[in-house]
Amino acid sequence: MNNHKVGVLVSGRGSNLQAIMDKIAEGVLPLEIAVVISDKADAFALERAEKAGIPNFAVIRKECADKKEFEAKIDEIMRAHGVELIVLAGFMRILGPDFISGWRHKIINIHPALLPSFPGLDAQGQAIRYGAKVSGCTVHFVDEGMDTGPIILQKVVPVTDDDTEETLAARILEQEHKALPEALSLWAAGRLAVQGRKVTITN
Ligand code: GAR
Repeated sequence: MNNHKVGVLVSGRGSNLQAIMDKIAEGVLPLEIAVVISDKADAFALERAEKAGIPNFAVIRKECADKKEFEAKIDEIMRAHGVELIVLAGFMRILGPDFISGWRHKIINIHPALLPSFPGLDAQGQAIRYGAKVSGCTVHFVDEGMDTGPIILQKVVPVTDDDTEETLAARILEQEHKALPEALSLWAAGRLAVQGRKVTITN
């Protein structure tokens, strides 16, 4: 049986992309990364993809006439590579409603906080400034809102008194690298059922 094809959207370092690639290489995640697309030409994630022999592209917003054209290019590349699921792994842009509706329940995002707390940018800094005692990461399907889609799974970490944004981000990232492959493994096994806001993990 052929493995399901996913496309990964990135903006930077790509450690979550690497976590997925590593699990695939270990033979424990039955997926193929068909393509990696970055909105930043110098994203280290593109180097990781290149090194692994994965087709990779930079699609730059400023080089497109508008957001519609930018998203149409991404859509076209994803479809040309037979992508069934799009993974946002540190992709720092909001996708528009046209794009989202073309990929309903077929886009997964990882966010470095326990949603619905601390959506948007600098989630780790938000948690520290708020005085939260725990934070973590959330893997969720993407809908039209900002970090509001149905939650697949979450992992919790403590926030300590001496945490900085950097130490908390590192603690959360360790869990992200487990959570994202775990969610993808459930998806690949056809075990995620979405009803309204709720995602059920079926047997
Ligand atoms: C990760 O912490 C991810 O959760 C976050 O960006 C980082 C990317 O790291 N994403 C968001 O904040 C999305 N709103 P990576 O490039 O090393 O995977």
